Amino acid sequence: MRICVAGEGAFDRWATRPAMRLGEVDSTQIEARRLADGGAPEGTVVRAEHQTRGRGRLGRDWVDERGSALLISIVLRPAVEVSRLPQLSLVAGVGVAEALAEASGLPVAVAWPNDLLIRGLKVAGILAESFTPAGAGPVVILGIGINVNQTRFAGDLTGRATSLALEAGHPFDRARLLAAVLERLEAWYRRWVAEGFGPVREAWRRGSATLGRQVAVGDGIEGIAEDLAEDGALLLRTETGALVRRVATASAP
Ligand code: BTN
Repeated sequence: MRICVAGEGAFDRWATRPAMRLGEVDSTQIEARRLADGGAPEGTVVRAEHQTRGRGRLGRDWVDERGSALLISIVLRPAVEVSRLPQLSLVAGVGVAEALAEASGLPVAVAWPNDLLIRGLKVAGILAESFTPAGAGPVVILGIGINVNQTRFAGDLTGRATSLALEAGHPFDRARLLAAVLERLEAWYRRWVAEGFGPVREAWRRGSATLGRQVAVGDGIEGIAEDLAEDGALLLRTETGALVRRVATASAP
């Protein structure tokens, strides 16, 4: 089935376009940024088998096992107010979680701001990096790393991460999984652009591993996650009873 948006006519879905498939690369974020600078259209997907300098949020490394993970970056040119861009990692979280849960039958939860968890362990991470070219609208490079068939995790991931294969007890076909991820991601993204954050917020709250839990959001601030605000900020009740808002910022590439 082809998805159509009123007034735009039919277009190729992201999942049906050939992804740029690379072997070893420093980071798919860097490759996607290069393509975006060259005018690549929305929905351009870069995929790698292995990254030598994979990056996560807050300057952390994202380490993969060659040929086991899904490592992708997608060029997005969202026609929305810039103030809505921080919502994008939550939009992506909902879409990717839905795809992984459907494909695996496993309970995949979203954790604020950008993690996907299975039974409390990290199975995927999302990195939204945005920039605004002169005279044009904002561009977001949406990076997604999914632990698909890894069986071991090193360093500080030991005991904190898992893979679909470890949880399900069998390996997964990464190409089929990628198609499912792109299909769900695109559907949620288009819904967010057209309808706003409301439907994403409801889905995120239903599938959240964060709400009701004690969380630390940086700068020494900790508290119980009470809710996700209408604009996507996390609402946190601290020990002193204060209600703190935290927005998941998109970083610059
Ligand atoms: C996080 O959990 O901190 C986000 C991790 C994002 C990792 C992905 S893997 C594909 C893309 N390329 C990168 O260098 N990072 C993202």
